[in-house]
Amino acid sequence: MPPNAPAGVSAGEERIAEDAAVRFAAAENEHTLDEAKAAFLNKNGLLQPLLREIGALPPSERPAAGQKLNELRRRIEKLYEEGRNRLRAAAVSRDLVRGVDISLPGRESFSGAVHPVSLAAGRATAVLSAVGFQVADGPEIETDYYNFTALNHPPDHPARSMHDTFYTADGRLLRTHTSPVQIRYMLSKKTPPIRAIAPGRVYRRDHDATHSPMFHQIEGIWIDESVNFANLKGILGAFFRSFFDDENITVRFRPSFFPFTEPSAECDILRGGKWLEVAGCGMIHPNVLKHGGVDSGAFRGFAFGMGVERLAMLLYNIADIRHFYENDMQFLAQFAGE
Ligand code: PHE
Repeated sequence: MPPNAPAGVSAGEERIAEDAAVRFAAAENEHTLDEAKAAFLNKNGLLQPLLREIGALPPSERPAAGQKLNELRRRIEKLYEEGRNRLRAAAVSRDLVRGVDISLPGRESFSGAVHPVSLAAGRATAVLSAVGFQVADGPEIETDYYNFTALNHPPDHPARSMHDTFYTADGRLLRTHTSPVQIRYMLSKKTPPIRAIAPGRVYRRDHDATHSPMFHQIEGIWIDESVNFANLKGILGAFFRSFFDDENITVRFRPSFFPFTEPSAECDILRGGKWLEVAGCGMIHPNVLKHGGVDSGAFRGFAFGMGVERLAMLLYNIADIRHFYENDMQFLAQFAGE
């Protein structure tokens, strides 16, 4: 009997336990493991003769012998469980080895960059909020009322066709400019001074090198008792000098037409010897103030609207607006860290 055998275990039982340990350890798959289990524990298995021996013992010795036999049975069941765990662990590591080709080069990870349109919108917002403009917001799916009627476009006014509008099935539309936020913001404030900007997406049925069906504008309004056109010129000039970080930028105002401003103008900047159109603007039409719930007898204001893509193209010298929407990694990566 080996010196470390549990006390009271007969040599026969200990030998069976050792045989079982060897046989379960040698099993290479579930099938041979199950066979080993059956060989020991089945009705006519290797424990059966021991059971018969107990039957032949005097009744007083049977309980102790039966207990020893049960212990042996539990040891064998434990060996079987251990064998199963060993086979499962081996299967998992086999799958891992098969699934991972450790000779492949590692995957490169890229860090993100803020989109140039967001950079330009953020820059414009920063410049204008620094001089007291609040940031306002409005829905991109608008009603005809806010996009046109409240902005002084009568139902049959030809100016409606200046914008090629996308209509929704339920009779609403994708806003063609950020100007509807003028009305919404006035209605939310009612009493001047009102000074707000509204950056956001707008939609028109246009698509070429300088137009995209979705683009961004930034709207601005300033309403107070004595706001005038000179203030508008001053603010826009200061804005462009700050935005482009160029003290030498000069602005020019050309008469224009928008239904919601009177007088109206286009604003150009002189940059690199060229006049570039950068904003529409004007004094807010009294009808528009009225629709915004502002007393048009007591207050006046100016408004302006700029294309953010246009600003970004000028700021970063980008020739084609479509670059902004193609998600070309090489193009976008250039703006990392801006
Ligand atoms: N909403 C005009 C456009 O989209 C721009 C504009 C805004 C003009 C505010 C005047 C005042 O073209």
